[in-house]
Amino acid sequence: MTSHRDRRVAILLAAGEGTRMRSDVPKVLHTILGRTLIRHVLVATEALNADERIVVVGAKSEEVGKEISNYDAQIKTVLQERRGGTGHAVRLALESALIQSSGENSDSTVVIVVAGDVPLLSGETLNRLISACDSVEVGAAVLTADVDDPHGFGRVIRDSNNGILKIVEEKDADSDEREVHEVNSSVYAFRLGPLQQALAAITPNNAQGEEYLTDAIELIRQQGKKVVPVVAEEYFEILGVNDRIQLAEATAIMRDRINLRLMSEGVTLIDPPTTFIDITVAIEPDVTIKPGCQIEGETTIARGALIGPDARLFNCVVGPAAVITKSECDGATIGRHAHVGPYSFLRPGAHLGDGAKVGSFVEVKNSTIGAGSKVPHLSYIGDATIGIESNIGAGTITANYDGVAKHETVIGDYVRIGSDNILVAPVEVGDGAYTAAGSAITENVPPGAMGVGRGQQRNILGWVTRKRSGSDSAKAAERASKNN
Ligand code: UD1
Ligand code: CA
Repeated sequence: MTSHRDRRVAILLAAGEGTRMRSDVPKVLHTILGRTLIRHVLVATEALNADERIVVVGAKSEEVGKEISNYDAQIKTVLQERRGGTGHAVRLALESALIQSSGENSDSTVVIVVAGDVPLLSGETLNRLISACDSVEVGAAVLTADVDDPHGFGRVIRDSNNGILKIVEEKDADSDEREVHEVNSSVYAFRLGPLQQALAAITPNNAQGEEYLTDAIELIRQQGKKVVPVVAEEYFEILGVNDRIQLAEATAIMRDRINLRLMSEGVTLIDPPTTFIDITVAIEPDVTIKPGCQIEGETTIARGALIGPDARLFNCVVGPAAVITKSECDGATIGRHAHVGPYSFLRPGAHLGDGAKVGSFVEVKNSTIGAGSKVPHLSYIGDATIGIESNIGAGTITANYDGVAKHETVIGDYVRIGSDNILVAPVEVGDGAYTAAGSAITENVPPGAMGVGRGQQRNILGWVTRKRSGSDSAKAAERASKNN
């Protein structure tokens, strides 16, 4: 035994055009529950602790390259200008790998090749593949799966010792080979020497006129090396996303996988099939999520919170025992025991203090609602700061926009804003102040004052009898005057 560890180079293939997606977005940038396809694969390769990761890009390489460098600026991208096939792509990647210039012993390097469109692949499976390759007589290990419908996949042809003899692409397969249900995943571990030797011999003499990486298998066999299969425990680990149908299929499987993990960690999901939680979301035990929720981005939810039904949260911080019902929350912070909904919209920069309440048909943007304060009905609160234990009457609007610039509204502690107020910013209502119902508050209200911003009411007696004589209203008024 030595402490020697093989050098590991991971190559991701993402140069394909993804024409079957019929999309302006490059295929590997389509997302599944919080991550692009390519990012799912990149995260899976983290388990390899690779010395080097290289992604082969082609179609829309700039956009794809940006996503890759956002994920990790250390990762190298290699441009494949024309689609020369998977073998051609791997050859290009190896030409730019550090291993070439360093002239390291090619027997002590393992090359892991992964297609960029297999979002359900796990890190454990990649490590199983590496282990299978950990012997001098093995030249390569191939991840395979037994599938009900092998249509579209390369078929794995075994030898009499249960090794792999070759892989035949569907378009090049004869009728017997097409009957095989064990398929190639496009995920491999190769020893560098045998791979390089094989790549040099691959030709594009096939139905698609491409250099098939799959041809390397037979060529490595011819070098006297073994090629061993590693069968995926779950068929979906190898599910490649080529069209929108497979995108939805992969999303459903990923959703179930995330939901099962959360439930095992102590989160109650009343209806998992209608609960879509991004892989990037963190939820503490004893949170309950009711049907029809979408929880996305970097959202975190603390113990005891009750979410749903029908809530969407994106990049939110939800405090312990908060309650969010039938509402949309984007970039909001929701305090301990705070309540939101039903039917409200929290926009970026909305901060609800502990025990604060945003009730029905309320929109809050870039505003702080202090602990214990309430905005119960039909309001717009924008660019405002509300202190603690204040109450905002139904139908109140902060007029934060004068048509040119945005202005702030500051409301103190223990304030009572009457119903149907317009607070014309910039404006301040001091601690303990009240405002009268129906006010347009255009000037500051000092602490403890009652702000009244409306015309005096006058009643024009007999107006209906004179101006609407004979109407039902006039008749009702007449009856009322007789009864008095
Ligand atoms: C490939 C395999 C097939 C396997 C299937 C699994 C080959 C010849 N065939 O077929 O045996 O069952 O995957 O999904 O390898 N790519 C490049 N450059 C190229 C061509 C492809 O980067 O020139 C990338 C694609 O972006 C994709 C991956 O390689 O991520 C596989 O290519 P794709 O066209 O999807 O291959 P399949 O026909 O599906
Ligand atoms: Ca594919």
